[in-house]
Amino acid sequence: MEVVILNDPAAIGRVAADTIESLLTRKPDAVLGLATGSSPLAIYDELAARCAKGQVSFRGARGFTLDEYVGLPPEHPECYRNVIDSVFVSRVDFAPGAVVGPDGQATDIPAACAAYEEAIHSAGGIDLQILGIGTDGHIGFNEPGSSLASRTRIKTLTRQTRMDNARFFDDNLNAVPTHCLTQGLGTIMAARHLVLVATGHNKAEAIHHLVEGPVSAMWPATIMQHHPHATVLIDDAAARRLQLADYYRETYSSKPDWQGI
Ligand code: GLP
Repeated sequence: MEVVILNDPAAIGRVAADTIESLLTRKPDAVLGLATGSSPLAIYDELAARCAKGQVSFRGARGFTLDEYVGLPPEHPECYRNVIDSVFVSRVDFAPGAVVGPDGQATDIPAACAAYEEAIHSAGGIDLQILGIGTDGHIGFNEPGSSLASRTRIKTLTRQTRMDNARFFDDNLNAVPTHCLTQGLGTIMAARHLVLVATGHNKAEAIHHLVEGPVSAMWPATIMQHHPHATVLIDDAAARRLQLADYYRETYSSKPDWQGI
């Protein structure tokens, strides 16, 4: 796992955008895994700016979102499908229908989850998966206790996650859905490159477990320690509990520019 500590979200956005731009240059029909949440916004801003300048294009690319609430009406602004459209998809040049997500409206949820797995598989798998992390160590919506081999399925959100996300629902905990569909940890692990972004003090504990803790379903993101190409992009605040922070800084600063992440 490569840990990159940078001093601001914009710098994190640029490093992640560099690797996505280079992927799309090599493979214009690349498949991207897209995360919602505030953490990846700097990446999407940077990619939208580069796309406007003609530096990168998503015309041939496809996208799969990580997760979706169950039970929100499809027009609700917090439906992750609508969120990803407004923060990223509508700002770049994806072909119509090129970005899809798990169907939180489905009446047959197991069938919808199986269809989502099949769609990812038929697209050739995900080349690069963008991830945030919850304060309880979840990735996607794989809450503590999730099977480390899980595939797309329904999950019950923890109270902690619902409290964390209440800020998007006018601070009304009761308005936050109780269930979601999420790519499983096994689904996420099948992506070829994982790029996780986290900033701020409230992520420091989850980052400490992710990078330096034992692999455990209690901190689901720790499964990433088993991934052959996982990159963790964090700021100083999120890095503050890392024992080897100086080593990670030194390693990244001595890397040749051409190498990327
Ligand atoms: C939600 C999403 C996750 C995201 C997490 C962190 O729970 N399902 O994919 O990583 O929030 O969000 P933020 O980046 O806003 O802290």
